[in-house]
Amino acid sequence: MIAIGCDHGGLEIKNAIIEDLKQKGIEYKDLGTYTSDSVDYPVYAKAVCAEIVNGNAEKGILCCGTGIGMSIAANKIKGIRAAVLSDEFSAEMTRRHNDANVLCLGGRVIDCEKAVKLAEIFLNTEYEGGRHARRVAMLEEN
Ligand code: RB5
Repeated sequence: MIAIGCDHGGLEIKNAIIEDLKQKGIEYKDLGTYTSDSVDYPVYAKAVCAEIVNGNAEKGILCCGTGIGMSIAANKIKGIRAAVLSDEFSAEMTRRHNDANVLCLGGRVIDCEKAVKLAEIFLNTEYEGGRHARRVAMLEEN
């Protein structure tokens, strides 16, 4: 299951990603926000990440205006490796090398088509492990 959330700045791209997940028959849980009313992004970052930490979701997607606030909030949570990005290469590499489990996107940075494409790459790319496993393990230290 994929946990997905946004604030008002990320609502449009979140809805586009959800439409794509629906079409592909990928199970997801939408943790809000559901309207364009102004809300606080840490609330949604925490809700999505909780689904991952408690084992309900394999991965998460968080959308705000830039993706940055969501990524800062998400990366404070132990066990979360969140990547904010806007290009296909980074979407692939953060899965292959960082084993990122949360994708953060900015609705004021990328359009819906790009958001759908980046989510697709993120969800379909496997972690390589190997030499990267030691480095990823180091992220969990202290
Ligand atoms: C909300 O205006 C905006 O600050 C938020 O969506 C996000 O971009 C924060 O990083």
